[in-house]
Amino acid sequence: MIYKRRKIKKSAIIGLGAIIIFIALIITSICLYKHFTSNEYKLTKIGYNEKEITTLLKSDNKILNKALENEYDKHLISLTKEKYFMWKNYEKYKKYIKKVLETTNEINYKDIVTKVNTKTNYDYYTHTEKTNMKKNNKILVNKYYSLPEKYAPTDIVTVSNWYSYGTISVKSEVYEAFKNMFNAAKKENITLIINSGYRTYESQKEVYDYYKNMNGEEYADGYAARPDFSEHQTGLSIDVITYGTAGKDFDKTDAFKWLQKHAHEYGFILRYPKGKEEITGYAYESWHYRYLGKDLAKKVKQSGLTYDEYYAFYLDKE
Ligand code: DAL
Ligand code: ZN
Repeated sequence: MIYKRRKIKKSAIIGLGAIIIFIALIITSICLYKHFTSNEYKLTKIGYNEKEITTLLKSDNKILNKALENEYDKHLISLTKEKYFMWKNYEKYKKYIKKVLETTNEINYKDIVTKVNTKTNYDYYTHTEKTNMKKNNKILVNKYYSLPEKYAPTDIVTVSNWYSYGTISVKSEVYEAFKNMFNAAKKENITLIINSGYRTYESQKEVYDYYKNMNGEEYADGYAARPDFSEHQTGLSIDVITYGTAGKDFDKTDAFKWLQKHAHEYGFILRYPKGKEEITGYAYESWHYRYLGKDLAKKVKQSGLTYDEYYAFYLDKE
């Protein structure tokens, strides 16, 4: 009897032990499965280090998924931290970084993102396309986005000599906006005079050729747009002077200071600012103002971006 009970006890212990071992095996298998299928493990396998993995696991899903789907990219985290990073340009950023690394070891991610977004990673006039004319007053015209061949806008009106120097015309909406701006400035004893407005294809060619004949193509490209690539050909841009001062000295005038403060309130932006030459492709032009309409001009001004950057980031995808 005692022998039988002992036997039962022994069997029970063995059974229990087997169950425990079985459970332990299941738990271990689950743990192993979890480990090998975890994002952390996958990222390690791809090549990311501990610090990068911690960042990626905290990043939004899109970044994490890109990291999981692609080969190791040591630039991914830095690129995606940039405010104006765009996924549609991701491959282009990578390609441009490769090119930059051929000549330097240092990568300025802000610069990479800005240049690729605005296409300024390419040489001028090497990657041109027709601008989207459906954007109307918002159209982007620069060394990468051209107007249709020999484009001539409709709705062009002649500016009264009261507001201009010489015979000048602009789009009628621009004229109305300028008159309002002129009157507001006048109240503060400031006279804004339009020195140049709409230019036909031919007249823009003359301007460009003038610079080209003076010092060659590269020089000309820094100051004037080639025909079909000038905002002046849209009728949406004006060059402003004031009494006694034009051109380079314009930014020393009260008229310029006034425009700096108020131009956007009337729908105009300074199109080629100082320090942004690499992006706009033009030397600083304190006199050149682009009409965008009040709402957009205000937004562009507040963004602190050039119109080339603003358009690429906010308007191109609209
Ligand atoms: N000077 C400006 C860039 C033009 O020619 O349109
Ligand atoms: Zn101009």
